[in-house]
Amino acid sequence: MREKRRLGRSIGLVPTMGALHDGHLSLLKASVEENDISVVSIFVNPTQFNNQEDFEKYPLHIEEDLEKLSKNKCDVVFLPDQGEIYRDKTRLKFHFGSLEKVMEGKFRPGHFNGVAIIVSKLFNIIQPDTAYFGQKDLQQFTIIKLLNEQLDFGIKLRCMPIMREPNGLAMSSRNLRLSSAGIETASIIYKIINKSAELLLTGNSISNVKSFVENEFKNSEARLEYFEIVSLIDMKSIRKIKSGEECALCIAAYVEDVRLIDNTLLTL
Ligand code: PAF
Repeated sequence: MREKRRLGRSIGLVPTMGALHDGHLSLLKASVEENDISVVSIFVNPTQFNNQEDFEKYPLHIEEDLEKLSKNKCDVVFLPDQGEIYRDKTRLKFHFGSLEKVMEGKFRPGHFNGVAIIVSKLFNIIQPDTAYFGQKDLQQFTIIKLLNEQLDFGIKLRCMPIMREPNGLAMSSRNLRLSSAGIETASIIYKIINKSAELLLTGNSISNVKSFVENEFKNSEARLEYFEIVSLIDMKSIRKIKSGEECALCIAAYVEDVRLIDNTLLTL
């Protein structure tokens, strides 16, 4: 990669954990359009899983992934094994202050430390000009932005829109673990997010919208872990509506023991 850079060719990186879906391919498409060389990394990163079972059950579809990548103009696949990435037990600890005290940080202790370790390693190994991430992991993107700034990686970061199944369910590798009934149940997540956005825009208070969400989940097979309306700048919960403020409505919920997240952006 150093050689390619030296020759003045731009490099786009799409970091993934495999089990690729159209969401990942939309990141690759953007990279192919904007760079000379597109690299996709596939690595199921153990340090970002706070739940061993989730790690063990994470879907692996390497053959299909490689086929999708070659059909979609990926130039380089980086497919390291655990030993190459983690030669020794890593001792690094990243702290992101209040950014990691809410939502994913709160419910998945250590998750963002693991994300920051692997993303720093990938940035150093691949040395991309631009890196592409999905908006579904909005808090992750905010953390990576901070990491990029604070460690002076100098990489351009792109946050690409969420891709959805026909029923509205946000695309995720974890959807592969759902039955067809589960996929139907999970469509409630996006419906509730959309309805909540509508309620906020038509003058309902934050506490009313929160009660609405809790009630909707009580009447469904899905189990709500959190629903938060947060500022786009610092991911802190918004308590009072300020006209013009940019926010995100974020949900994490379990369907058939599979943890799913989703969000939408909104200007109040
Ligand atoms: O978003 C993901 O798939 C992962 O968190 C990432 C960024 C590839 C790091 O392992």
